[in-house]
Amino acid sequence: MSFFNMELFFSTLAVLLLAVSVSPQEMAYEHMLAQLQACPKECRCPPSFPNAVYCDNRALKRIPKIPPFTWYLYLQNNLIDALAADIFSNATQLKWINLNRNKISNEGLEEGTFRALSSLVHLYMDDNLLTAVPSPLPPKLEQLHFSRNKISKIPPGVFMGLDRLTLLDLQGNKLQDDAVTEVNFKGLNNLVQINLAKNQLNNMPPALPATTTQLYLDGNNIEKIPAEYFKGLPKISFLRLNRNKLVTGGFPNNIFNISSMLDLQLSYNKLTEVPVIPSGLEHLHLDHNNIKNVNGSDICPVPAAMLDDYFEERGPKLRYLRLDGNEIKPPIPRELMVCFRLLRAVVI
Ligand SMILES: *[C@@H]1O[C@H](CO)[C@@H](O)[C@H](O)[C@H]1NC(C)=O
Ligand SMILES: *[C@@H]1O[C@H](CO)[C@@H](O)[C@H](O)[C@H]1NC(C)=O
Ligand SMILES: *[C@@H]1O[C@H](CO)[C@@H](O)[C@H](O)[C@H]1NC(C)=O
Repeated sequence: MSFFNMELFFSTLAVLLLAVSVSPQEMAYEHMLAQLQACPKECRCPPSFPNAVYCDNRALKRIPKIPPFTWYLYLQNNLIDALAADIFSNATQLKWINLNRNKISNEGLEEGTFRALSSLVHLYMDDNLLTAVPSPLPPKLEQLHFSRNKISKIPPGVFMGLDRLTLLDLQGNKLQDDAVTEVNFKGLNNLVQINLAKNQLNNMPPALPATTTQLYLDGNNIEKIPAEYFKGLPKISFLRLNRNKLVTGGFPNNIFNISSMLDLQLSYNKLTEVPVIPSGLEHLHLDHNNIKNVNGSDICPVPAAMLDDYFEERGPKLRYLRLDGNEIKPPIPRELMVCFRLLRAVVI
């Protein structure tokens, strides 16, 4: 029955197309031709990829006039330092803009530059000179990349309504605790990954969206974690806190015992003990801390007596363990190997 309907659908479609006497191929061809004719002289518009415009690596200081059918726009590795408010006014179909490695500052970015981009899904602005997250941002964004700018400010409400955003990359900026306040991340109802590594945070960022599964905070100055912190992050699976100042006692020892956790990285901190880990954890990085010894039965998330019963479904899942750069003396405790039967590698 549904097959029959499908045929009907296609024959109807064919009739409709005949009525306007343009086949899909011809329509695509017309678009392609218009696109090629409008291709800026500074850029390449390959006929085999008619919705892409390549203007990267040209020492451009300004964005050329972008043809209206452009979906993918490559402008990385130029010297662009200013974007006029109307620069994308004809390119309303843009889905993807790469502006990595330019010289764009907030002063050079006229307000409303991104407003017309109602189809924009990915915006790349890594390695520029931004000091604040630009505002307003287009509403359908799924990925925002602002690595290695000089961002110290996040305007209030700038992420409001971005409920398709899954990835927010703000690593390598100058964010301090007061910039990363509660209101700033409100509205990001589908955020999966947030990267705040290499900023100047002394505390864990408060009130992140409950959908967050990947939280990257490497290279900050975080010493402690509030006891209830992960209560608001029930899906957290990948947590990176390498190169901070975490001390044993700066958080409850069982704070990482969260059933969704898969990958926990706490390298280059000041821990003296191994924290409690959940049974489902697959990767654990504890290298370069001040841990003196590892008690194989203490670290095991399942009591030794129950290991055999548990093994099939709920046995410890750890596959990769790093303990090097501590004060632990080999050999690896036997209990550790008995507990973590799936271990592929231990670095000690
Ligand atoms: C937009 O299109 C109009 C009409 O073709 C043209 O005059 C104008 O220069 C274009 N603007 C930009 C920024 O591309
Ligand atoms: C870790 O979490 C599991 C599952 O929630 C729980 O059964 C176990 O007692 C916890 N371990 C510690 C030491 O808190
Ligand atoms: C490990 O800890 C348990 C108690 O949690 C203790 O009974 C055992 O002796 C310890 N093992 C070593 C080698 O210190």
